[in-house]
Amino acid sequence: MPDRRTLLRQTADLAADFLEGVADRPVRASATHDELVAALGGELPARGEAPGEVVADLARAAEPGIVATAGPRFFGFVIGGSLPSAVAADWLASAWDQNGFSFVTSPAASVVEETAARWLLEVFGLPPESTVGFTTGATMATFAGFAAARHRVLQRAGWDVEKDGLIGAPDIAVVVGAEAHATIAASLRLVGLGGERVIVVDADGQGRMRPDALRASLAGLRDRPVIVSAQSGNVNTGAFDPLPEIVAAVRELPNAWLHVDGAFGLWAAASPSLRHLVAGLDGADSWTTDAHKWLNVPYDSGIAIVRDGPAHYGAMGHGAAYYVAAEGAARDSGNLVAESSRRARGFTVYAALRELGRDGLTDLVDRCCALARRMADGLRDAPGVTILNDVVLNQVLVRFAPPDAPDADAATVDAFTRDVIAAVQADGTCWLGGTTWHGMAAMRISVSNWSTTEADADVSVAAIRRCAESVAARRASDATAAVGS
Ligand SMILES: Cc1ncc(COP(=O)(O)O)c(C=O)c1O
Repeated sequence: MPDRRTLLRQTADLAADFLEGVADRPVRASATHDELVAALGGELPARGEAPGEVVADLARAAEPGIVATAGPRFFGFVIGGSLPSAVAADWLASAWDQNGFSFVTSPAASVVEETAARWLLEVFGLPPESTVGFTTGATMATFAGFAAARHRVLQRAGWDVEKDGLIGAPDIAVVVGAEAHATIAASLRLVGLGGERVIVVDADGQGRMRPDALRASLAGLRDRPVIVSAQSGNVNTGAFDPLPEIVAAVRELPNAWLHVDGAFGLWAAASPSLRHLVAGLDGADSWTTDAHKWLNVPYDSGIAIVRDGPAHYGAMGHGAAYYVAAEGAARDSGNLVAESSRRARGFTVYAALRELGRDGLTDLVDRCCALARRMADGLRDAPGVTILNDVVLNQVLVRFAPPDAPDADAATVDAFTRDVIAAVQADGTCWLGGTTWHGMAAMRISVSNWSTTEADADVSVAAIRRCAESVAARRASDATAAVGS
């Protein structure tokens, strides 16, 4: 049995081998579910195994089921890679095994979160007095934001929701954009407001909330507690809701709270050339973003920011006789998120921000956006291709019509687009997913990885074009076979 140092060194080698090869292997996983179950399933062993064997065997067996999301040509969902210092800091967080709950359980974790929180507020241009919780992801950050919102709007209406719950409470009106991310409904469910008990505001062709429609929706809500959820960065198009108009409309109500979901779009604030997209951001009350997306820290890592600290603590805080509360300015991080015991997530965020610095962060955001535009431009002139969105950020939506039938009906173009996506996924040069945008099937490209280069973008564009050609050739030969039969 190797000693612990040998085991950790062997593991570091396994990790380094993986990362050194991640750009050269197929991006997709290669094993099926059944193959992985055969390799990783089985009965719980009666007798324990040597740690070195467990880890070596796990690495070997899991490898075919690993998707190269850490690599430079994964463009699916909105998934960043991991900066080297953030991976290393994550390892330390595990080795230290700190409970990030309170100052007493980990003074270092507490102070690192406090520092990272201050840096983040500076990067986003948000009020310095805001409180910041480090969560598992955007969903739980939004949950914290909505919980703080619920606390304050009900308190203003004379109701203590933490004490009395929602039964019999004043009726909160929740207003969301038509293009709100699916997790807004999930978070609303968690705070008891109902995922579908919402007023939906129309969006424009890019998915931006229409301020005139918002005003019309708010018109009848002056007498109610109101929570409005806006979005910075649509998951399909990357578009931003017009915050200056939204803030102005919400501020006319006597008891309203504005939340902004900027799971990846908030990072536009780090770039002087993109900052205009989040103009008005500091007029909101709470904000969601993710670090595991565009900041490129390992999963999982989200960020909940609330201007009204007492509402944030009021909603999420809790106490017990055996807890030891932090004294003075020290922070008990568990009072800002849903979990009590929790991973000390601030370490990775802190490391990534230091590794990048202000300039590096700007460069990361600008580079991903430039690569998204490069990929859109590289695909735009391919036969049958339409770029469906204005590429304002790091997201590109692509639709593929059969080159021999550019005016084919929508169902044919949908099917062709989905076939191209499946062909690209199987090809393995890069990985990207599909979506439906305004009723049309579309390929989604999200450039969010720090290590993606122009060469990666170009080789991926070439692979996508090649796959589209091969799907077109197969379609043509299927049509010929059908005529011949
Ligand atoms: C706008 C937006 N909000 C929320 C989420 C959910 O993020 P998470 O999976 O970190 O909870 C996403 C994920 O892509 C997103 O794009």
